[in-house]
Amino acid sequence: MTQLQENIFEKIAARKKELAGKALILCHHYQHEDVFQFADLTGDSLKLAREAAESGKYPYIIFCGVHFMAESADILTDDDQAVILPDLNAGCPMADMATVEQVASAWEELEQACPGQKIIPVTYVNSSAAIKAFVGKRGGSVCTSSNAERVLSWALERGDKVFFFPDEHLGRNSSKALGITEDQIVLWKRDEKRGGNGVEKLARAKTILWNGYCHVHQEFMVEQITHWRQRIPGIRIIIHPESPWEVVRLADQYGSTEGIIAAVQASEPGSSWAIGTEVNLVKRLQKQHPDKNIYLLAPTPCTCTTMSCITPANLLWVLDNLAEGKIVNQIKVDAQTASGAKLALDRMLEI
Ligand code: 13P
Ligand code: SF4
Repeated sequence: MTQLQENIFEKIAARKKELAGKALILCHHYQHEDVFQFADLTGDSLKLAREAAESGKYPYIIFCGVHFMAESADILTDDDQAVILPDLNAGCPMADMATVEQVASAWEELEQACPGQKIIPVTYVNSSAAIKAFVGKRGGSVCTSSNAERVLSWALERGDKVFFFPDEHLGRNSSKALGITEDQIVLWKRDEKRGGNGVEKLARAKTILWNGYCHVHQEFMVEQITHWRQRIPGIRIIIHPESPWEVVRLADQYGSTEGIIAAVQASEPGSSWAIGTEVNLVKRLQKQHPDKNIYLLAPTPCTCTTMSCITPANLLWVLDNLAEGKIVNQIKVDAQTASGAKLALDRMLEI
């Protein structure tokens, strides 16, 4: 550790003490250890959304994660609480693959292609507040990687088909887990007429999946699974469901970041794991479980560069400002969007 880093860490620790009871630091599992060490609460998207919803006594929520997570936190917290994202560049490229304008025009086309059929929209939490509001107003729900199957079956009980955005892979993995067949799963290619599909195909579909993806989880491949199985017989492979179906189907398990942690924690000493998710989480698990053999699934580390926008330096900058009574980088969703999005988020929390 450099002297400069040490100084920053000391200052953060001192500011945290000073702001105890006022500022709550929420950290996603993909945060680098330098930031993660200062978390008051950690979690996957679902857990962090729940923590935010229950954080009523804290006036300031500092979100060490990405933009859509901070937006959800703002929607779920009280009006007098401020949600802060230490770097406004911390976005999610997958969430940016669907704008509300694109979704609204696709929705109209889909409705025209499927007259008399009830379509339920479901959006992955990795999406803008505007898309969540669009979904909320049309009777749909948000889902996360830990409840996508549950939310999808809830939606299919209420309609003939589901329009799912923006993650194709989470949509396909969850559809397959529910026994939906390949011919009932249709890919909607954004910016193509009717998503590149014929009317009959859309009418037959059970789930229609927006063609967004996470570049981090897109890195995982079938050959990597074959490699580990050959190298270490009996190794367990666990992977995040944002990864492609061909890979997920060959893994032993899949799960949200919280699910991956729980699976490794519950395993017996000496067990071997190859883990397909962001490198910071895998490295943390390696440190926390020296009695287990934990490997990165891919040969090179898969990094979410936007998650890494949050650094000790900008965390300290936020804390320094709060100590002076100034709120910087506040994430505020406008009241109208927030009320629509809250419908979709609350539905998920109920399901
Ligand atoms: P989790 O909800 O599983 O933590 O996933 C969030 C995410 O963005 C994964 O890429
Ligand atoms: Fe978005 Fe992928 Fe980063 Fe998660 S890992 S925040 S889905 S880009």
